[in-house]
Amino acid sequence: VFENSTLGSIAVAREIASVIQFKQKNNEFCILGLATGSSPKRLYAELVRLHKEEGLSFKNVITFNLDEYYPMEQDSINSYVRFMKELLFNQVDILPENIHIPDGTLSKEDIADYCATYESMIEKLGGIDLQILGIGGNGHIGFNESGSLQNSKTRLVALDHITRVAASGDFLGLSNTPRTAITLGVKKIMEAKQVILMAWGEGKANIIKASVEGTVTNLIPASFLQVHKNAVFVLDKEASSKLT
Ligand code: F6R
Repeated sequence: VFENSTLGSIAVAREIASVIQFKQKNNEFCILGLATGSSPKRLYAELVRLHKEEGLSFKNVITFNLDEYYPMEQDSINSYVRFMKELLFNQVDILPENIHIPDGTLSKEDIADYCATYESMIEKLGGIDLQILGIGGNGHIGFNESGSLQNSKTRLVALDHITRVAASGDFLGLSNTPRTAITLGVKKIMEAKQVILMAWGEGKANIIKASVEGTVTNLIPASFLQVHKNAVFVLDKEASSKLT
């Protein structure tokens, strides 16, 4: 628990940098799982700062983003491709071919094969070294909504009403907000060697309590992290305020 989200984000950035640099020393790739949304914005700003001011290189980094709305054009203002380029990828030295974000432009019949390939790329690289997560108000991780199974695969999902309402501001109204998304499944998240979930603000306090102290249940996918061997929740005081 950190005094505020800035200090929490700086600590997560340091952890990511140390994994990248450890892998660099061993001439290995660092496989990062990345999230979008408001929670990691300060983290990405700090990673950019570490690159520009302290020489942190992303040349040995391969990224897999958790999710993308479907359908979604890559240059749309709300696409996660655009979000990641603007906040991180265009500002560091990551190689474009090492960036992976679920493709919101596929035709429906190609999605299943695409998702299977996304997972097999991760497997061939030896799995995700460090997975960054936010958490939805309903306990979703990625877009694994309430009811997602612990062994769920990467797939097209229907977004919960609460998720669409949370996103509706960005889309200028609920009627414009996508109903579906492609998400990395819970199984690949649980197979990551290390997981860091970030949550800021009082609005997340109830779901943080349920995820950390409640029963492990597919109604709250973030609760699966209780049985992960190396998962940490990084919180500000407000998000932690309901924990006992
Ligand atoms: C985004 C994602 C989502 C968000 C979650 C929290 O890639 O996977 O699970 O992390 O909806 O969103 P924010 O951070 O905007 O509160």
